[in-house]
Amino acid sequence: MQHQVTVYGAYGHTGRFVVAELVKRGWAPVLAGRDAAKLAALGDRFPGLARRVASTDDPMSLDRALAGSAAVINCAGPFAETAPALIEAALRSKIHYLDVAAEIEANLDTLANYEEQARDAGIIILPAMAFFGGLGDLLATAAVGDWPMADEISIAYGLSSWRPTAGTRAAGQVSRQRRGGRRVVYANGGLEYRDHPAPSGEWTFPTPLGTQPVATEFTMADAVTIPHHIPVKDIKSFMTSCAVSDLIDPASEQPTADDESGRSSQTFMVDVIARSNGDARRLSASGRDIYAVTAPLVVEAVERLFDGKTRPPGVYTAGQIFDARDFLQSLSAELRLAA
Ligand SMILES: NC(=O)c1ccc[n+]([C@@H]2O[C@H](COP(=O)([O-])OP(=O)(O)OC[C@H]3O[C@@H](n4cnc5c(N)ncnc54)[C@H](OP(=O)(O)O)[C@@H]3O)[C@@H](O)[C@H]2O)c1
Repeated sequence: MQHQVTVYGAYGHTGRFVVAELVKRGWAPVLAGRDAAKLAALGDRFPGLARRVASTDDPMSLDRALAGSAAVINCAGPFAETAPALIEAALRSKIHYLDVAAEIEANLDTLANYEEQARDAGIIILPAMAFFGGLGDLLATAAVGDWPMADEISIAYGLSSWRPTAGTRAAGQVSRQRRGGRRVVYANGGLEYRDHPAPSGEWTFPTPLGTQPVATEFTMADAVTIPHHIPVKDIKSFMTSCAVSDLIDPASEQPTADDESGRSSQTFMVDVIARSNGDARRLSASGRDIYAVTAPLVVEAVERLFDGKTRPPGVYTAGQIFDARDFLQSLSAELRLAA
C-alpha cells in the first residue's frame, strides 16, 4: 500500500509544483494550509484529493492535517514561522518531516534542535530539500566524493533572471532581520557576519553560460547544509548579477508560467568546485525554474525515505542521507549534469 503524504502550504507557488509532482508520480497527497478558500481553489485543480485547513498556532488542526500520512512536506514559508510548529506536529504524529526552507537561520535551528527528538520518535527530519540548500549540497557531496574533508567549496549560481515570489521576499526579510541586516559568509570553518557590501566579480561557468558578472559572498542555505556533514574550511558563493538585480528590485514581478506545467522561462546552472590538498573536482547541474525543480527534488527525497535504503532516524541534509550521485542521476529529466 502506498504511503500518504501531507503537503503543508500546498497552494503556494512552490507547494503547487510539489502537489503536481506527487500526483504525477501516483501519490494522492493531502492538501493542507491555513486558508480554506485557497485550498478549495487548489482542490478544484486536483479533484479527489483531501483538503485540511490547519494553522501553525493551532496544534490540533496540524495533527488533523497530518493524520493518516507517513510524511509531511512543509512548503509554507517563512520557515522561521512555520517549521517549529510543523516539526512538533510531525514528532507527535511520528511521521517524517521535509521542508524547502532557504532561510539560513531557520535551517540552522532545525538541524540543531531536533536530533534527539527525531530519534526518539523514529522519524527523519530533512530541511532545505530544495533548489537552495538541497541541490548545492548534493552536488558538493558528489564532487567531494571520497575526500574526508575539503579546503574550499565554491558554489556559483547562474540564474538567467530571478522573479521572486512573495514567499521568497518574506523569507529574505525575516532572515535579514534575524541577522541584524548583516551579510553572512561561511569562512574559517563557521558562519561569519559582515557589514561591508559584498564585492562583485566574474565566474566562468561551463558552456553555454561562460563568463558572467556575479555577486560574490551570496550565501545561501548550502552554507548550512554542506558543513553539517562535510568538514570544510571555506564555502564561497556566487550569484549572477542580473539575478541579484531582479531580486532586490521591489518592482520585479512574480514568476509567470511559460508552459502548461507552470514553469517559467528562467534557466539555472549550479556550478560546484571542491578543492582539497591542491586537487579540484567540479560538478554542475542545469535546468529550468528554481521553484519548479524544487518539486522533483523534494518528492524524490520523500520517495527515498520509504525505500528502506536511508539512514536511521535523525536530522539530516540531502547530501548526508542520500547517495548524492545516484540521487542527481535519477533526476536526469529535470537536471543536466556536467563534470
Ligand atoms: N530552498 C529553495 O530553493 C526554495 C525553493 C522554493 C521555495 N522556497 C521557500 O518556500 C517558501 C514558499 O515559497 P513560495 O515560492 O511557494 O511562496 P508563496 O507562493 O508566496 O507561498 C507561500 C506559502 O506559505 C504560506 N505561509 C506563509 N506564512 C505562513 C504561516 N505563518 N502559516 C501558514 N502558512 C504560511 C502561504 O499561505 P497564505 O497564502 O495563507 O499566506 C503560502 O501557501 C519561501 O520561504 C521560499 O523561500 C525555497
